[in-house]
Amino acid sequence: MARVFVTRQLPGGALDRLGAAHEVEVWAERMPPEPPQLRDKTAAAEALLTLLTDAVDASLLESAPRLKAISNYAVGTDNIDLPAATARGIPVGNTPDVLTEATADLTLALILAAARRITEGDRYVRAGEWRTWEPGLLLGHDLSGATVGIVGHGRIGRAVGRRLQGFGCELIYTSRGSDAPLTELLERADFVTLHAPLTDDSRHLIGAAELKRMKPTAHLVNTARGPLVDSDALARALAAGVLAGAALDVTDPEPLPGDHPLLDAPNLTVLPHLGSATHSAREAMAERAVDNLLAALSGERMPFCANPEVYEERATRPAP
Ligand code: DGY
Repeated sequence: MARVFVTRQLPGGALDRLGAAHEVEVWAERMPPEPPQLRDKTAAAEALLTLLTDAVDASLLESAPRLKAISNYAVGTDNIDLPAATARGIPVGNTPDVLTEATADLTLALILAAARRITEGDRYVRAGEWRTWEPGLLLGHDLSGATVGIVGHGRIGRAVGRRLQGFGCELIYTSRGSDAPLTELLERADFVTLHAPLTDDSRHLIGAAELKRMKPTAHLVNTARGPLVDSDALARALAAGVLAGAALDVTDPEPLPGDHPLLDAPNLTVLPHLGSATHSAREAMAERAVDNLLAALSGERMPFCANPEVYEERATRPAP
């Protein structure tokens, strides 16, 4: 039996499977453990099940000499120092595939919300401003026939593309080292939707210069990671009418403080990181996260591992 620390309660019954095989402690609070609390809990653990809100950096790993597996309840692993985990021989699991369709659905919801000014309309009615049907009230843009730039050609980007084909959109893809250059995509697209992982290279992929390249009628949608976009530059660009609007499921920081200038933009729809938030996706993510830990703790390869090189390095390491 290994000691496992789980940083939050998860939907569904997957944690029961983990608890049946190992000594499991689940952080019971709504808010994530603070870094010192995470450090204390991790110090004695042999395995960790983390959320994207838990920073697992090199110093945390150093303070956890017994740790042999980390399973992240997310497809993204930017909250974890992967090279440091690999250097320690610790596999890091993630949860791809099971959230692809849910995240693509939410992306379409945001593209449509931006195109048809849905949240603006909702606010308008609730504020008691609606007096009568008017020919020019809250006009938006057609999605049918629009050009959509999809930044990131992975599972979620492709699932978004499949949906947009049904709307009769022209698609432009870009990803590292292939397809259209980002500059061309930004200049041509009516909607730009981000589906790239967050890395040192992709941080602030969309800053002031990139926003300026977009059409003044275009919208930016982000359901990937907040730091792909320079939030201050986006707030300035929305206020100045550099682009028509934005719809964000993810922000930097997350959550945005109440006085953040982005929240003053009427042409912004913002959600609390709900991309994978369906019952079935979140339960399937929990199953996958537990499968990863159970495999690692029984000496097997994690079925979904974000640093698979850890296994090659193990194989070439001389026996102790
Ligand atoms: C992930 O899995 O990386 C998502 O952001 C969670 O919805």
